[in-house]
Amino acid sequence: MTKKIFSGVQPTGNLHLGNYIGAIKNFVNLQNDPNNFCIYCVVDLHATTVKQDPKELKKNIRETAAAFIASGLDYKKSIIFNQSSVPAHAEGSWILSCVARMGWLNRMTQFKEKAGKDKEKASVGLYIYPILMAADILLYDATHVPVGEDQKQHLELSRDIANKFNLDFNAPNFLIAPEPLIQKKFARIMSLKDGNKKMSKSDPSELSRVNLNDSSDEIYNKIKKAKTDSEPLPDNEKNLSSRPEAENLLGIYSSLSDQSLIDTINEFSGKNFSEFKDKLANLVVDKISPISLEINKILKDENFIDKILIEGSQKANKIATEKIKNLKKIVGF
Ligand code: AMP
Ligand code: TRP
Repeated sequence: MTKKIFSGVQPTGNLHLGNYIGAIKNFVNLQNDPNNFCIYCVVDLHATTVKQDPKELKKNIRETAAAFIASGLDYKKSIIFNQSSVPAHAEGSWILSCVARMGWLNRMTQFKEKAGKDKEKASVGLYIYPILMAADILLYDATHVPVGEDQKQHLELSRDIANKFNLDFNAPNFLIAPEPLIQKKFARIMSLKDGNKKMSKSDPSELSRVNLNDSSDEIYNKIKKAKTDSEPLPDNEKNLSSRPEAENLLGIYSSLSDQSLIDTINEFSGKNFSEFKDKLANLVVDKISPISLEINKILKDENFIDKILIEGSQKANKIATEKIKNLKKIVGF
């Protein structure tokens, strides 16, 4: 059976190794399975749930699209577009916000984290963000949604919204409840400076992450400076949980070399970090610097990116317009 895949990434600054291993690498694998039909969206409407500088936003939309393409997403095989260019997302989000319940949204942990202590000052958009995400997915009848662990709760909300809509409007199976696709291995890449913190765009330390557009020298330098501990590398997985930095670096190596953690452990068991880091730095440079070079090349040709996004939007619009037309009919508009 054909799987319909939909996923989105916010254009909120440089993508990094965590985004690549946790999301984009998986997008590419899914795309390359001929049984899948994939749609990948630069979710710019989601980005504006927190304040954005308009010029920066425009730049970040292009950069995220460039990172998709440079990482191996092929606009001829997958639909690649930006959310704000398909009006049905905002329209669908309104209709679904009348289906979703306050109680459901009040349970969303990401809102609590992002709004922080002063939630009175958070935008309403940030609060209803998961409903827009549900609209993104449901408009395309997506059956599978690859996301990081942090998005699991939002996906459950999408399922609840789909089921309630179908029930409320007596429209069995009209909206398809999507399945999450969450990677079991290497789902969370941690900061290079603190193995207990997620690698993140918002970390003030540049040394905490490898950006997808870093130069080879920058990558090499960051890996060499990554935090470690004073023990030699382990010979089994058992004690790794108490050595978060070692676990993270071994995980990065395993993921990028497409081998299991235990194979990586066996390869480096008993060796010291400086030898391991040398190999790891070379591997990260090998995998990431071609992407970095390609991103920077693509970014020089804005017309090329804009053309891909417009083409993608046209294809997405076709699907989403048809769905929203039927959605509105069911509601009684
Ligand atoms: P974000 O940058 O938060 O919009 O995330 C885009 C995608 O990358 C989502 O699917 C996240 O789950 C994933 N992601 C972000 N940071 C990491 C990380 N440190 N490790 C693994 N996956 C991540
Ligand atoms: N909320 C997701 C994130 O922050 C991004 C996103 C928006 C998304 N719409 C989506 C992911 C639809 C999957 C499907 O990472």
